[in-house]
Amino acid sequence: MRPYSQNQQGSPRLDPPVVIKFGGSVLRSVDAMPMAAHEIYRILRRGHKVVAVTSALHGQTDALLDDAHNVFGDGAAHNRPALLRLGEMRSAALLALALERIGVDARAVDPAQIGLLCPAPADEAKNEEAIVQACDTARLKAFLERHDVVVVPGFSACDEEGFSSLLGRGGSDQSAVFLASALGAEKVRMIKNVDGLYESDPFCAADAPRFSSLDYDHARRVCGPAIQKQALDLADSQGITLDIAMLARHHGSTIAPTRPARIAHVEAKRLKVALLGCGTVGAGVYQHLARHDDLFDVCAILVNDLEKKRDVDIPAALLGSDPAQVFAARPDIVVEMIGGVDTADAFIRNAFFGGADVVSANKAVLAKRFSALHKAAAQAGRVLRYSAAVGGGVPMLEALDEVREKAAVSSLRGVINGTANFILDRLADGAGFEDAVREAQEKGFAESDPSADLDGDDAAAKLVLMARRGFGRALPVKDIACDSLRDLSAQTVRQARENGDVIRQVSTISRRQNGRLRAAVRLEALPADDFLALAKGERNRLEFTDESGAVHGLQGKGAGRWPTAEAVFADLLDIHRLRAQNEVHIKAMPDNEPVCA
Ligand code: NDP
Ligand code: HSE
Repeated sequence: MRPYSQNQQGSPRLDPPVVIKFGGSVLRSVDAMPMAAHEIYRILRRGHKVVAVTSALHGQTDALLDDAHNVFGDGAAHNRPALLRLGEMRSAALLALALERIGVDARAVDPAQIGLLCPAPADEAKNEEAIVQACDTARLKAFLERHDVVVVPGFSACDEEGFSSLLGRGGSDQSAVFLASALGAEKVRMIKNVDGLYESDPFCAADAPRFSSLDYDHARRVCGPAIQKQALDLADSQGITLDIAMLARHHGSTIAPTRPARIAHVEAKRLKVALLGCGTVGAGVYQHLARHDDLFDVCAILVNDLEKKRDVDIPAALLGSDPAQVFAARPDIVVEMIGGVDTADAFIRNAFFGGADVVSANKAVLAKRFSALHKAAAQAGRVLRYSAAVGGGVPMLEALDEVREKAAVSSLRGVINGTANFILDRLADGAGFEDAVREAQEKGFAESDPSADLDGDDAAAKLVLMARRGFGRALPVKDIACDSLRDLSAQTVRQARENGDVIRQVSTISRRQNGRLRAAVRLEALPADDFLALAKGERNRLEFTDESGAVHGLQGKGAGRWPTAEAVFADLLDIHRLRAQNEVHIKAMPDNEPVCA
């Protein structure tokens, strides 16, 4: 997602990555992988790279053991690690696939590739005390330089001869803490099926108090098997903070040096969500919400045509074509995914004044009514989020926000319309124009009227939003000159490829001397190795420079159901977090005292 971020000397920015570990209790089936991907996406969009460590899917390790035991008995122990590691390998590969679907550059690696060393104990009874000794940090860093996410199967390593060895029960915790320590990361986020450490098992005592923070010694006293002992000891010796949390939850327990014990009471409220639109994007968002029914309750879905056959299973009772009925359900959040300007504008205002926050994917309405909609949100005291409106699954607006906090953005250039890019590639491959447009529509990349994609209006609307967020300036859409794909012959596109060039729809913003912005959407022949020329199919790329001379690059999938639904869902989780922050009550506990009175 962020292939590079370089200072003016061209040195890459190499912040330590965020290390996140997914336990088997949350990876209950393949269906949980998109939920794990949401956790990672939210970290990526804050500009961090990620090392994800996986446990095996729930029950998988026992199933592997049983298979072998039933046929071979207990005798054949030397090769058991080679069998048992497969569970973690499988979940790592599945998670990498889930990330790839949303356009994230993720790679699953084998522990052997990063030289994770753990000698097998001579005495099998000592297996549970296994301790990782080394890893090839340079290799791991090299993977992280080239990819946004490295997914490492937990629990297994290699012995001195390169044969598989295991890290004992809960060994994935140790894998994660060891990798964090090797990479200089200060923290490991551990995702479990409970939202932190409790004074006693919360599955047995429903009213057990949950710690919001505690130090390692206190954690040793209360964590039981929730965290592997070797992992806790290693975190303690290296000063690594452990955040224990549930999927999609923002509150958990933090174990860190000198953290006084505190307990927290959090009302994890279920928010009512109304979806306006259930097409390419809306149906994807619905599926994410349905998986997170502990946090969200889809109360109504507005569509045009109730008779239309949908490609996802949606309870008929949720669908309606009367906006008044949808708003009558009193949603906490309205997600606008119908497209267009006037109707969408009216619905968004209606949502604000009915007390709902709004997430929108609609750049057309946001570009045309930017100030008015933000003013309406402020008047109503509501939140407006629209990450998906620019870049689909590529967090372009967030990257501009982050850089702008430190230095003004001077200029940007990007491929920001997936449909146009897809069509240009298909033309270069020999397809006809009409066929290429139809294909982009069938794949869900194009707007309902593809003119906006072809004539540059969609890219222009995105430039308006980037001008606001990156440059803090209004950019009238009428001032943006656009080339149309309709004026380009397929022959020209093919000829460019034969000459070693690539034609791209290039969108730019720069500052004039008088401080005003100059913007355009142009069709340009670029050298094949240009950063923008390397965006393939529906992918988007953005390159921008800040006033210090540093250059920042992003890439990923700019259109299509899953990347776009991911960005919308990340906005929904942010709003959930904002609302939950108001619900937290934390009580300090004198250390070493019993927590329950
Ligand atoms: P679709 O055309 O696939 O879906 C639009 C949905 O809105 C349909 O369910 C349609 O109902 C419903 N709808 C449209 N107008 C009305 C109306 N007046 N009243 C009630 N329902 C209505 O569009 P997408 O999902 O592709 O796009 C949705 C939004 O997301 C657009 O703003 C688009 O620009 C934006 N976006 C899209 C991306 C993509 O890759 N597709 C990427 C990033 C942003 P029905 O199903 O009955 O026809
Ligand atoms: N039609 C748009 C595109 C959707 O192709 O880029 C994503 O904004």
